[in-house]
Amino acid sequence: MTQKDKLVIFDTTLRDGEQSPGASMTRDEKVRIAKMLEKMHVDVIEAGFAIASQGDFESVRAVAEVIKDSTVCSLARAIKGDIERAGEAIKPANSGRIHTFIATSPIHMKYKLQMEPPKVLEQAVAAIKLARQFTDDVEFSLEDASRSEFDFMCRIIESVIDAGARTINLPDTVGYGEPGEYGFLFRRLIEAIPNSDKAIFSTHCHNDLGLAVANSLSAVMHGARQVECTINGLGERAGNAALEEIVMAVKTRKDLMPVETCIDISHIVPTSRLVSSITGFPVQPNKAIVGANAFAHESGIHQDGILKHRETYEIMRAEDVGWNTNKLVLGKHSGRAAVKARFEALGISFVDNDALNAAFVKFKDLADKKHEIFDEDLQALVSDTQAHSLVDVYELGEMEVVCKTGQSPRAKVEVKIRGKSVSADAIGSGPVDATFKAIESLVNSHSHLQLYSVNAITQGTDSLGDVTVRLEHDGQIVNGVGADTDIVTASAKAYLHALNLLSAHAAKAHPQHDGI
Ligand code: KIV
Ligand code: ZN
Repeated sequence: MTQKDKLVIFDTTLRDGEQSPGASMTRDEKVRIAKMLEKMHVDVIEAGFAIASQGDFESVRAVAEVIKDSTVCSLARAIKGDIERAGEAIKPANSGRIHTFIATSPIHMKYKLQMEPPKVLEQAVAAIKLARQFTDDVEFSLEDASRSEFDFMCRIIESVIDAGARTINLPDTVGYGEPGEYGFLFRRLIEAIPNSDKAIFSTHCHNDLGLAVANSLSAVMHGARQVECTINGLGERAGNAALEEIVMAVKTRKDLMPVETCIDISHIVPTSRLVSSITGFPVQPNKAIVGANAFAHESGIHQDGILKHRETYEIMRAEDVGWNTNKLVLGKHSGRAAVKARFEALGISFVDNDALNAAFVKFKDLADKKHEIFDEDLQALVSDTQAHSLVDVYELGEMEVVCKTGQSPRAKVEVKIRGKSVSADAIGSGPVDATFKAIESLVNSHSHLQLYSVNAITQGTDSLGDVTVRLEHDGQIVNGVGADTDIVTASAKAYLHALNLLSAHAAKAHPQHDGI
């Protein structure tokens, strides 16, 4: 067997993924996702863009503090202030990387940067030299590489490698590349640049034409040894190349691929679920690897084939990527130690006993309603507990919802606003609509509902419903989440969580502010 090269998996769910409108994540949510990525053996975690905001800086730093086995990276423009901020944010990391970029295509240089190519080259080199003062692990991206001129790319890449860049990323920023052309670009550059052997070449593909994974794999066939990707293909516009698709294509077609990854594929599905529940971006049922139907066989001919010999219609095994691992783990007689141990096995730890107790109370409550508790239920419980452990302005009190055939549904909802109880009645076109109207009449947030989604966490009508509510207010977009066996209650919790997040943003912007 020929020796394969290692393919570095660089996950940018927390940075490019978060740039999807509406996918913003809190620092704690980012830390939870980062821990799952580390468990999965992702090589590099791009945790954010430290200069973008104080919140981004704190998230990169928090990830750098807890992650031990993966490299933690911050993005930075090729600008002094950005690089210094990135360097500061990754300081606590065991292994930290600065990823700096500047646009190199004629259209970006002329209209966006309004800079001549020699100036762009000079700035790139200065950025790398500065970044090297913070870490030896410096990556350089030629933004819009797939529309950049070959000769200019050769010059700038040679210079930044000389200045100390150890990874050269060629982003298909606008998703314009085509597999043959984009892959060949790697081969041509690697062959033409005299010091190309001193750096790893990397892909970063956007999915505007649905070609992100194909382009990335083509680049790998032509010499790329790092792929930048995101869980569920989350990312700007049509998203980035999906990590799960890249990893499984490399593994499943090992007969063709010159590389292998270190990813522990059994964590793929749980990580996909976690990202989906935190961002509120549901995974489409026919999505490769992680969609609900990815391994479902409907046609009789296929089912017959599978029963006779599995490989007739299956090229991968569902259980290998983490499907059906939701073994029955706990029930209502389980004790605190067993519950704690199971949470720990899922990578969930609690800051103190109070946090564990809160999760345990919720577990018991759920076990009374639902006798089979799966791993996914535990993950949702924690999302719900963490979501509602902010210093909340709004808290859900009692609620009563009446639905009667031939009558409009009516909801009576009690909300505690800074501890003071108020309640209101409303009717709506459905029970959730009535509930939201009742809440709005109490809080007058004037926010706009942008997305409402309900996902059953496990199978069965007694499953926890996981609700995401996306609200927009004054340009600020937040995702509230709530979980409960009653989806109307889960919806009310998610709505109030979103209001609390808006309120927290408003309080940060205007410290004297009270509510939204
Ligand atoms: O798409 C892109 O060009 C990027 C770079 C900043 C790497 O995300
Ligand atoms: Zn990108």
